[in-house]
Amino acid sequence: MIKPLLPQVLARKTQRAHSIYSPKLSIYLLVTCVFIFVLFHIHSLRTPLSPSSLAPSSTSWTILQNWQSLIINTTLILKNYTNQIDSIALKLQQSVTFLPLIDLRYADTAQEGQTWFMSSMNDTYEKGEVQHQQFPSNSSKGRLLCIKGQDNHDGARNSYALAWPEALPKSATLMKGLTYISNNHYDYDNLWHGLSAMVPFVAWHIKNDCATPKQWILYHWGELRYTMGSWLKNLMEATYSGTLNIQTFEGFGDDEPVCFEKAVVMRHNVGGLSSEKLIKVFDLIRCKARIYCKVSLDSNVDGRIGMTILTRRGTRSFRNESEMVRIFSGECRKVKGCRLVVAPSNNLTFCEQVQLMSSTDILISPHGAQLANLFLMDRNSSVMEFFPKGWLKLAGVGQFVFQWMASWSGMKHRGTWHDPDGAHCPFSEDDRRCMTLYKKGTIGYNETHFATWGRNVLNEVRRLKLEGGSQGRLNSSHGCICA
Ligand SMILES: *[C@@H]1O[C@H](CO)[C@@H](O)[C@H](O)[C@H]1NC(C)=O
Ligand SMILES: *[C@@H]1O[C@H](CO)[C@@H](O)[C@H](O)[C@H]1NC(C)=O
Ligand SMILES: *[C@@H]1O[C@H](CO)[C@@H](O)[C@H](O)[C@H]1NC(C)=O
Ligand SMILES: *[C@@H]1O[C@H](CO)[C@@H](O)[C@H](O)[C@H]1NC(C)=O
Ligand SMILES: *[C@@H]1O[C@H](CO)[C@@H](O)[C@H](O)[C@H]1NC(C)=O
Ligand SMILES: *[C@@H]1O[C@H](CO)[C@@H](O)[C@H](O)[C@H]1NC(C)=O
Ligand SMILES: *[C@@H]1O[C@H](CO)[C@@H](O)[C@H](O)[C@H]1NC(C)=O
Ligand SMILES: *[C@@H]1O[C@H](CO)[C@@H](O)[C@H](O)[C@H]1NC(C)=O
Ligand SMILES: *[C@@H]1O[C@H](CO)[C@@H](O)[C@H](O)[C@H]1NC(C)=O
Repeated sequence: MIKPLLPQVLARKTQRAHSIYSPKLSIYLLVTCVFIFVLFHIHSLRTPLSPSSLAPSSTSWTILQNWQSLIINTTLILKNYTNQIDSIALKLQQSVTFLPLIDLRYADTAQEGQTWFMSSMNDTYEKGEVQHQQFPSNSSKGRLLCIKGQDNHDGARNSYALAWPEALPKSATLMKGLTYISNNHYDYDNLWHGLSAMVPFVAWHIKNDCATPKQWILYHWGELRYTMGSWLKNLMEATYSGTLNIQTFEGFGDDEPVCFEKAVVMRHNVGGLSSEKLIKVFDLIRCKARIYCKVSLDSNVDGRIGMTILTRRGTRSFRNESEMVRIFSGECRKVKGCRLVVAPSNNLTFCEQVQLMSSTDILISPHGAQLANLFLMDRNSSVMEFFPKGWLKLAGVGQFVFQWMASWSGMKHRGTWHDPDGAHCPFSEDDRRCMTLYKKGTIGYNETHFATWGRNVLNEVRRLKLEGGSQGRLNSSHGCICA
């Protein structure tokens, strides 16, 4: 029926030739049908009821009946299609399958491959770029990520699913905007582990036109976490220029899924990121932290060399702080422009740490969380790290994290010193039981060694500064890559 009408419609509305399926067409169609219907009625009334004329009248009546039946049949078919579409949508909705957020089958290899977190999903990975998952995306075939995830004790009781936006699971809430979803194998309070979990998000942020999340969802082993440590929170608030909205799912029932308009999932920490990308990430965090803390950006440009001794209390403290200061200030005094600062690491506010690091070129510190600040120094700055007795043999890979961080952020790790003296262990030196003793150890000094080491580092830093001038320094008028 549509075909014969087309030329008329096109002739009358040539300028709208592309919108032939407009409501106006339906009206034309209806009017035509009614017209034909009336025509047949008039025709049958005019025909006298004589036996001779019975045949043609009955023919027109049949045609009329066919028309009516066709219209009714078409309506029924359309209704049937609508019902079928509804029923398929319902089936799609009901076929959304929630799987446990962590897959206990992979508990032994929790951090490997696809990990035990959302184990059925593959990551998107381009060489050198951050390994991540994004929803909706081509690989999710346009489906959104949905989560029932408020359990904070057992990650296997939380679950996830993919669903098309037209067929979200029953009683689902759609969360607008971008959501960051993190799974961290350790915790968000530890400076090192927390930062490692955040780095991939910052890399994604840089890659995606500095897109900023509306909310963050934090998991550890698939268990919901409500907070991150205050140092990390400050860093992220500085980086994203605003308060973090950490989703707690308060007010959601156990069986009420949340689906995300757009979600980015990270479960591999820095895995996959090239060293250039890592340096960019730390450049951005440093730049934003300095702006956040309104740190004067010119403090260190005029050939000054900042040497900072970061002290600790208790375990891994310097046994004789005044001797440390005496030795290093002696070397500092011999170099033009050098200035020594001694700072306690335990009671500095976030911005005091940012301020201190931005004026430090050589960081002298025991191994410990306070060293996580090292990337806040200008690029190419130096780190000298000190350990108590026994750590080299017994402390495991954890003792190397600040060497990794220095390399990630473009700093120069100038080596470590391991105190040969310390607590006496009754077992053999590499017996694991000794570590409980060495863990509580403090750090002594070796004047000849420290003086030589300090002098070499100072000279190297001075040489680099003279070579590079103020190049590589943060220039406030240049701003950060994500303004
Ligand atoms: C309308 O449907 C009925 C029953 O399904 C069928 O018998 C009839 O031929 C159909 N009419 C037309 C015009 O297709
Ligand atoms: C709708 O279509 C299906 C399949 O084509 C058919 O089995 C069913 O009987 C139809 N229902 C109605 C109400 O016409
Ligand atoms: C993940 O990748 C593997 C291997 O490339 C493939 O066999 C599998 O179908 C992928 N899974 C999904 C959900 O895309
Ligand atoms: C997704 O697929 C479409 C069509 O195949 C393609 O044009 C587009 O570039 C793809 N997007 C990404 C991010 O790969
Ligand atoms: C530090 O060493 C100096 C010189 O050996 C000594 O005089 C001083 O008492 C020591 N201080 C502490 C706190 O051990
Ligand atoms: C931190 O402690 C030192 C002494 O260890 C003290 O001089 C300083 O004022 C303290 N700073 C703050 C911010 O509490
Ligand atoms: C101090 O360091 C120097 C040079 O590295 C070394 O020769 C000396 O044996 C060390 N002294 C002690 C007491 O360990
Ligand atoms: C860091 O030092 C190297 C030389 O060791 C130099 O080539 C590079 O330009 C410096 N980078 C910055 C950002 O100053
Ligand atoms: C900072 O950038 C501005 C403008 O790009 C430039 O004029 C100025 O010399 C730069 N300052 C330093 C210290 O590099």
